[in-house]
Amino acid sequence: MILPLLIVSVLLLNESECQEFNPCSIDDSICMPLEDFQENCTCILLSDKPFNSSDEIFLYFSGYPIPLKYFKQVELDPFFRDKLDVRIPRKDFYSVDEYFPEHIFKSFEIEENLALFLANSSSDIFSFLNETQLLRTAQLRQFADKWCSEGECNAFVYESTVRNRSAGVYSHAADLLQIVQFNGLSLFAVSSVEVRFNVAKVAYSHCRYKCSPFYYSENDLCIRLCEQRVAFDHISVIGEIKRKVDFFARSSAIYNFREKYANYLS
Ligand SMILES: *[C@@H]1O[C@H](CO)[C@@H](O)[C@H](O)[C@H]1NC(C)=O
Ligand SMILES: *[C@@H]1O[C@H](CO)[C@@H](O)[C@H](O)[C@H]1NC(C)=O
Ligand SMILES: *[C@@H]1O[C@H](CO)[C@@H](O)[C@H](O)[C@H]1NC(C)=O
Ligand SMILES: *[C@@H]1O[C@H](CO)[C@@H](O)[C@H](O)[C@H]1NC(C)=O
Ligand SMILES: *[C@@H]1O[C@H](CO)[C@@H](O)[C@H](O)[C@H]1NC(C)=O
Repeated sequence: MILPLLIVSVLLLNESECQEFNPCSIDDSICMPLEDFQENCTCILLSDKPFNSSDEIFLYFSGYPIPLKYFKQVELDPFFRDKLDVRIPRKDFYSVDEYFPEHIFKSFEIEENLALFLANSSSDIFSFLNETQLLRTAQLRQFADKWCSEGECNAFVYESTVRNRSAGVYSHAADLLQIVQFNGLSLFAVSSVEVRFNVAKVAYSHCRYKCSPFYYSENDLCIRLCEQRVAFDHISVIGEIKRKVDFFARSSAIYNFREKYANYLS
């Protein structure tokens, strides 16, 4: 049931594509999938057979056609594909049967990032990821050693944070970070999601929605009673929202990565 919402969030992502994250800006030999290709990239990461570059195929940058033969094409080695697939949790654990109604969903602030690329193992990409805020959990940013060693990382970390207790603003974040090494190359897989919500706003949307079938005067009373009830039952309401948002953040991180890069997994 949550699936449509997760798809919505993938679409949100594409609109607000994280401009500042361009790994090719620190190392132009990094291989990126075509769908993520950016300025200064020179190498295409392929999930399938290379294109025949003697054919007249062009990539367009700012409206200018550049013949494909000027780009390197690298097919993802099955070793990477298999290892990544084994390490990333399966979608089925995260296809939940509870979801947020649209009116509640709209009151959330959601930020997400997805990335998949192949780099020379000698370049220091982790610090770059960290600097660009692509990773969202303090746990992973500060204690990467727990999940990473000798250039490989295997992390799926989630945490909840009270952003502002008096204003009732909470945030739930999930980071998926996989780094797999093979033959001097490192494959990076990143998926991060952060959902922020304000308890008062959620309660407000919930009560407006719940009371909308009533006529004006009854509607007013209904909203007042509803908000009183939420205030009275504050702890359990917050607990319930937090539990769902937490699950939602984790599910989105896994689901969105597996959807977007399905061709690069086994
Ligand atoms: C691309 O490379 C040029 C020349 O090295 C540099 O000036 C420019 O800032 C780079 N663009 C990005 C987005 O990294
Ligand atoms: C690539 O295309 C050229 C001309 O279109 C053709 O002669 C050649 O056999 C093709 N190569 C492959 C590997 O398909
Ligand atoms: C990541 O960035 C944070 C500050 O944003 C810093 O405290 C931390 O040491 C960095 N981690 C690594 C491994 O560089
Ligand atoms: C927390 O929220 C209150 C009330 O909205 C505001 O006055 C305060 O500046 C906020 N604190 C922080 C640290 O953002
Ligand atoms: C990685 O970079 C080093 C130093 O630039 C180079 O010697 C090595 O061949 C590169 N490895 C691969 C697999 O491209």
